[in-house]
Amino acid sequence: MVDSLKVNLGDRSYPIYFGENLSGQILDHVNKLTREGRKVAVITDEHVERTQKAFVDTVFNAVPLLVLPSGENSKSIEGLSQCLDFLSLNKLDRGGVVIALGGGVVGDLAGFAAASYLRGVDFIQIPTTLLSMVDSSVGGKTGINLKSGKNLVGAFHQPRAVFISTGILSTLPKREFAAGMAEVIKYGLLADKSLFEQLHKTAVGPESSSLSDVIKRCCQSKASIVEQDERELAEKGGRALLNLGHTFAHAIENVSGYGTYLHGEAVGIGLCAAARLSEKLGYLSKKDVSCIEAVVKSHGLPTTLTTALALDDLMQATTRDKKNKAGSLRFIVLKAIGTAEIQAGVATALAEASFREIGAR
Ligand SMILES: NC(=O)c1ccc[n+]([C@@H]2O[C@H](COP(=O)([O-])OP(=O)(O)OC[C@H]3O[C@@H](n4cnc5c(N)ncnc54)[C@H](O)[C@@H]3O)[C@@H](O)[C@H]2O)c1
Repeated sequence: MVDSLKVNLGDRSYPIYFGENLSGQILDHVNKLTREGRKVAVITDEHVERTQKAFVDTVFNAVPLLVLPSGENSKSIEGLSQCLDFLSLNKLDRGGVVIALGGGVVGDLAGFAAASYLRGVDFIQIPTTLLSMVDSSVGGKTGINLKSGKNLVGAFHQPRAVFISTGILSTLPKREFAAGMAEVIKYGLLADKSLFEQLHKTAVGPESSSLSDVIKRCCQSKASIVEQDERELAEKGGRALLNLGHTFAHAIENVSGYGTYLHGEAVGIGLCAAARLSEKLGYLSKKDVSCIEAVVKSHGLPTTLTTALALDDLMQATTRDKKNKAGSLRFIVLKAIGTAEIQAGVATALAEASFREIGAR
């Protein structure tokens, strides 16, 4: 029996399957769909196709495969257009099923192609990065970037199933693995104190025996948050809490130029900034802050900026953040380790001081 958990969303509910090697289960699933007369098409990227060739050849040798260039640039109007043409050329009808095999870029893009092609066809996520296993493959946020900004076009479109085959991580570059750990640490901080304590005791790496369990716990947290607030409409808490550290991180990515820091690296620094802000608001102790920094550091992530960034630029980027309402600064803060909350009306001076402490000039 394959280990699984269910995301409960009424008629949009779906299973997440976990295992070291799920190629047999995925192949069975593809064969079943084909037997039912449903056309299956796979979208992946060059790195995944090259490094996971044996997996791709075993599981997808009989289905059409689109291989896109790796990297954020594929998550664009041009990338979407390629995906839609591919689905149409392969004659997927409304019973067709799109499989996203890749990290968050492929998942978001292929998911959005599935959401928009013929006004919506089914799709399945097979995440191949740690970030996509613990975060982006679950929850149904799909989309692409515009030249003017990230994730500006998209749709909520839940997958029909998610297959988390952790052996796929064996080819993931170390730096990408560490970037995914930033999101794992985030779950510990916002929803799972005992996970955070575990990470504090022993750092988790690609070889750790606890890795599968850690991934599953993150998916459990994500699933329960998504079940409560599928479309991020909750005034208090809900999906917005998943942005812990991200307001700082988005400002860092925006000012440094996308690509300087991997998203997860910016999130690592952002978590440290959010911890400092939470301390300034009187919620966390100095000891909590050092503890958070120690966990970020022990997972190979930066705790402060590694390039010179101007405070004014970072603050300007922060005020443009889409989570701000009516000109008031909003951040996700920690009331304690394991409990997060939205804090509106944060004083500019406190945000500035937090940015300074992570190295802004
Ligand atoms: N939808 C959501 O809820 C959500 C949440 C968080 C992030 N995201 C999005 O996710 C994207 C980032 O995702 P990501 O960090 O997975 O990046 P990514 O998809 O670009 O993957 C990172 C790199 O690793 C390579 N790669 C992937 N799997 C591999 C493997 N097993 N072996 C070797 N190389 C492999 C990729 O080709 C790429 O070069 C961003 O676009 C972000 O906006 C979406």
